[in-house]
Amino acid sequence: MKTLIACYSYSGHTLKVAEALKKAINADITHIESVKDKWYLLRLLDAIRGKKVPIKPCQTDLMSYQGLVLCCPVWGSRTPAAINQYLVEIKNVKGKQFGVFVTSGGKRPQKATIQMREFLDKEGMQFLGQMRILTEDVEKENYGEIFDFFAKKFV
Ligand SMILES: Cc1cc2nc3c(=O)[nH]c(=O)nc-3n(C[C@H](O)[C@H](O)[C@H](O)COP(=O)(O)O)c2cc1C
Repeated sequence: MKTLIACYSYSGHTLKVAEALKKAINADITHIESVKDKWYLLRLLDAIRGKKVPIKPCQTDLMSYQGLVLCCPVWGSRTPAAINQYLVEIKNVKGKQFGVFVTSGGKRPQKATIQMREFLDKEGMQFLGQMRILTEDVEKENYGEIFDFFAKKFV
């Protein structure tokens, strides 16, 4: 199946995993980027408050895809505001399959994964899998068994 990986990454860790996944499953990738950069604390507050920010044009139409993988870093336990905006811009998703993954600095419980899952579930998409990879493991390129397990669902 042809899958679109939609990736928001501020400092490159999530993107590194997304690029590895792109190779593993022969997917396309689209980069979600906010129009304006903000100071660290403002980005954190936006995430905690569940805000949206304008994003640059990227692939939001899933017409020619069977699956979507949405990925981002965890910010204040939640999704960055650019992801919240991407979620409301996506089109032609009903009945298609999806997975989500996050990278995070720590192992504490996070809400980002469930936020993305709940939204896409409500849009009528079918959940295939999720994963979380720690920043330090991304730096060591040690994605673990979960990566292969996740990737297999999209081939
Ligand atoms: C604004 C901000 C908030 C963050 N909040 C959390 C958090 O709540 N929990 C956590 O484990 N890591 C947190 N992190 C760490 C990032 O999730 C982690 O370093 C991630 O791998 C960065 O991905 P990126 O390089 O793709 O941007 C935060 C980082 C930033 C910049």
